[in-house]
Amino acid sequence: MKVKLKQMVVAAVLSLGMGPVLAANCEATIEGNDAMKFNLGEIVANKSCKKFTVTLKHVGKAPKSAMGHNWVLVKTADLQAVATDGAAAGLPKNYLKDGDTRVIASTKVVGGGESTSVSVDLTKLTAGGDYSFFCSFPGHWTLMKGKFKY
Ligand code: CO
Repeated sequence: MKVKLKQMVVAAVLSLGMGPVLAANCEATIEGNDAMKFNLGEIVANKSCKKFTVTLKHVGKAPKSAMGHNWVLVKTADLQAVATDGAAAGLPKNYLKDGDTRVIASTKVVGGGESTSVSVDLTKLTAGGDYSFFCSFPGHWTLMKGKFKY
């Protein structure tokens, strides 16, 4: 019993020590390239986070008019419809329909060598819900998408 108690105390102290590490982990960086690909197929937000910052780096060279990328967070069920409406909205609107309430978070569209970021308000999400991120540049969503887990 005494040994078990000691192990529990040690475990509790260790998990307390993990706190600042987890808190500092409320962010992710994702890269988009000239081959129309993201380098991540999944982003996981820790449940201790209230805000989660995503930085998108376009590591290619193509201009945003030809190979632009953004990072858009939606419910997975909304992805295709938001992408279709977004494609029609045009680059000046960052390929998203004006006032689209299905969009939970989004960055602007960037071109090669540029980066941008957005802060996701995780209090708007349901833990364990089915969320996806994608690029809304016309045609990109079929390849540039992934799951956002919270
Ligand atoms: Co793209």
